[in-house]
Amino acid sequence: MTCEGDVLTAEYRHTPVMLPECREALALKAGGSYCDCTLGGAGHALGLARDIVPGGTLIGIDQDPAALAAAGERIGKAHLDLRFVPLHGNFSSLDDLLVEAQVPGIDGFLFDLGVSSPQLDHPQRGFSYAREAPLDMRMDPGNRTTTAAEVIHTFNEADLTWILREYGEERWAPRIARFIVEARAQRPLRTTTELVDLVKAAIPARARRTGGNPAKRVFQALRIAVNGEMDALRCGLEAALRWLNPHGRIAVLSYHSLEDRIVKECFAQAAKGCICPPEAPVCTCGHEPILAHVTRRPLRASEEETKENPRSRSAKLRVAVKVGTR
Ligand SMILES: C[S@@+](CC[C@H](N)C(=O)[O-])C[C@H]1O[C@@H](n2cnc3c(N)ncnc32)[C@H](O)[C@@H]1O
Repeated sequence: MTCEGDVLTAEYRHTPVMLPECREALALKAGGSYCDCTLGGAGHALGLARDIVPGGTLIGIDQDPAALAAAGERIGKAHLDLRFVPLHGNFSSLDDLLVEAQVPGIDGFLFDLGVSSPQLDHPQRGFSYAREAPLDMRMDPGNRTTTAAEVIHTFNEADLTWILREYGEERWAPRIARFIVEARAQRPLRTTTELVDLVKAAIPARARRTGGNPAKRVFQALRIAVNGEMDALRCGLEAALRWLNPHGRIAVLSYHSLEDRIVKECFAQAAKGCICPPEAPVCTCGHEPILAHVTRRPLRASEEETKENPRSRSAKLRVAVKVGTR
């Protein structure tokens, strides 16, 4: 499996965030079946793998073929007594992927959301506002899905505003969208640098002085839109809850408020008992909770970790356990 360019497969450096916390959260046991839905370079997966030998099953999903190749090589080299099942696909299709893996149920799911460091650093992928690259941003570059450049050139001003506001929480969304529409009428916007310059021009100077790179939120918004990240997360979490064995655990690492909100709401909904309207005199729904929170508040990375790995600063780890017998 290769990707456009071989930088990702040659050297895949990504420091797993809150690894000890994730291992503990999943209550790993030898011989169990676990699924890392965002395998990346297997930083987390390898950490989990060591706790499920002998005889465990580790399923690793990633939509990026380069990540899968790097992870497969790394796990292979560890020579562990387990069944490793790498699967190329989007966790929005978790049901199909797990059918392919031929497992009856899963004892623990891990989701470590977003992009990896090698994806951000890869010169051709276009995820980073700090590197000159074509405006691509697809996590699965082999897939014939829309690129960031296509979003920028085909979406109307209202839709662009909506994306920037909803997915980037960008205060200047209408202004930036207008600048994009005006600029693209003159000449195509092709590279990350062109987009960064446009965003800088659209945001008033006084608002550009704080909050890091002014294009950060625009890049986040486009990445989320290009990869359909929010819908994928909802679908993936719902499917994961169906596949979890009783007492199985689910741990999700999110890196911005939009992701965290979806995880929080999904867990809260699944942890609900009766869902009858409040005015109902007696319960008629018979609804039973299928999840219980292991930690009510999200766990955060230690100060030590945030110093060593700045990416961990924004991480929130939510953990829940399957209750009931289904
Ligand atoms: C933050 S990285 C994971 C890093 C990994 N935990 C490690 O320690 O090496 C997220 C990975 O998930 C993948 N990914 C993100 N969304 C996905 C989705 N909806 N389906 C499948 N893979 C996805 C990305 O391609 C990326 O490789």
